[in-house]
Amino acid sequence: MKNQLVLILDFGGQYNQLIARRVREAKVYCEILPYNTSIGRIKSLNPKGIILTGGPASVNEEDAPSCDKELFELGIPILGICYGMQLMSVMLGGEVAEARQREYGKTEIRLDSSSILFHGIEHETFTWMSHTYYVSKVPKGFRVTANSNNCPAVAMEDEKRRLYGVQFHPEVEHTPEGKNILKNFLYKICGCSGDWEMSFFIEKMADEIRRRVKDSSVLCALSGGVDSSVAALLLHKAIGDRLTCIFVDHGLLRKDEGAQVENIFKNRFNINFIKVDAADRFIGRLAGVTEPEKKRKIMGEEFIRVFEEQAKKLGKIDYLVQGTIYPDVVESGVGESAVIKTHHNVGGLPVNIEFKGIIEPLRNLFKDEVRQVGRELKIPEDLVSRQPFPGPGLAVRIIGEVTKEKLDIVREADYIFREEIAKANLAKELSQYFAVLTSLKSVGVMGDERTYDHVVALRAVVTTDFMTANWARIPYDVLERISSRIVNEVKGVNRIVYDITSKPPATIEWE
Ligand code: XMP
Repeated sequence: MKNQLVLILDFGGQYNQLIARRVREAKVYCEILPYNTSIGRIKSLNPKGIILTGGPASVNEEDAPSCDKELFELGIPILGICYGMQLMSVMLGGEVAEARQREYGKTEIRLDSSSILFHGIEHETFTWMSHTYYVSKVPKGFRVTANSNNCPAVAMEDEKRRLYGVQFHPEVEHTPEGKNILKNFLYKICGCSGDWEMSFFIEKMADEIRRRVKDSSVLCALSGGVDSSVAALLLHKAIGDRLTCIFVDHGLLRKDEGAQVENIFKNRFNINFIKVDAADRFIGRLAGVTEPEKKRKIMGEEFIRVFEEQAKKLGKIDYLVQGTIYPDVVESGVGESAVIKTHHNVGGLPVNIEFKGIIEPLRNLFKDEVRQVGRELKIPEDLVSRQPFPGPGLAVRIIGEVTKEKLDIVREADYIFREEIAKANLAKELSQYFAVLTSLKSVGVMGDERTYDHVVALRAVVTTDFMTANWARIPYDVLERISSRIVNEVKGVNRIVYDITSKPPATIEWE
């Protein structure tokens, strides 16, 4: 049943969105609400279960975040995680004390497999801990169901009242059985059936958008990347023709990219789509500029100018759509009705147009979930699984000055690289891969002739978060084919080098 809801009460822990993600992975619908949500509202939502998250505070502090005690009397199963467990403990008559030593990291625990929460899990298992305080006395009616060398009550439960607490974090990867523990809570304790799907998220989000936007017009700055494309299509599903997408072709896109994006949005999805050909304008402004940061700034500024000009032409626009996803979220709480000057993430600079509000339908999703939404919305696979492409485009993949000649070279080389990676079936294993024009020239020999041509570098990395990355071990024979094709097919290139630096100390892009 898709209407089965699990509520996550947010006490400010850093992994809270991860808890929500794990619940969604278990195919159960969940919503995160602030810890101080009124008991009336909670009751009206009629959740099948409630999860109290971790948080940075100490429950013994005077104004520590708390919830209504009645919550524990509703007969709804509750799982308290870390701070959530400690809160449950003190509110029900137990005690929490400060440990002499903070317990942090991978910790072996011994658990009681007869607990439903730990059904099917080995007696000894590893969990991820991050706490200074611990439950020193469990409340009346509770029993301890796990312990570790440093912590006497790693888990506790009152099976009768269906109240459970764990000191560790089941939501993080470092707790190998975490997903199973959460599933036990969701299925065996809350009785959820696990048949929620991403399509329900789409329906619900579309509904919310319709209610919020009413009959206003909405604008979306489309970069052609996964996030803004998925956000645009979700909006289109919700409000159809009242959405207009602006796609700025700055002339620094990859081969065929502009045409591909236009084809998908205009022809396949029949969306109000404005493609602005601004290549001359961008390349003109970049002429003679060699400093990487200046190039980025110019790209960002020019992007905004083009976007603003187009937006003004369209007349009154009330909302702006952004493809912000959870890892991009730094702050929340954008007011619904306040007139705000907004930032958008395509060019990275403020837009001087006033909007009534921003719509960020993907702000709670992780990248792979966004891709799932994209697939549900029938976005072609090559767009959905597309690797990241930087806002400033090929401008940061040509070292030094950008010229049309250099753009042609790097675009062709990059295309061959991508084609060979696809042929070798390596695309899924690589997080990002592209060609860089080093703007170095070196001596070579072709036939009997001396050449003095460009050096192209190939960059390929494997990473999960793009904050750190490893250079990819592409098989030599694949590298050989790429190298040979580029020097043979791309005029002006006589040498290929492969970048074998990780991040750090290098960055993924060269500029
Ligand atoms: P670096 O080079 O910093 O890149 O290791 C990390 C990831 O970010 C992408 N990147 C950008 N994306 N605008 C973007 O939208 C930018 O200015 C930008 N610079 C880097 C890069 O491609 C990699 O995925």
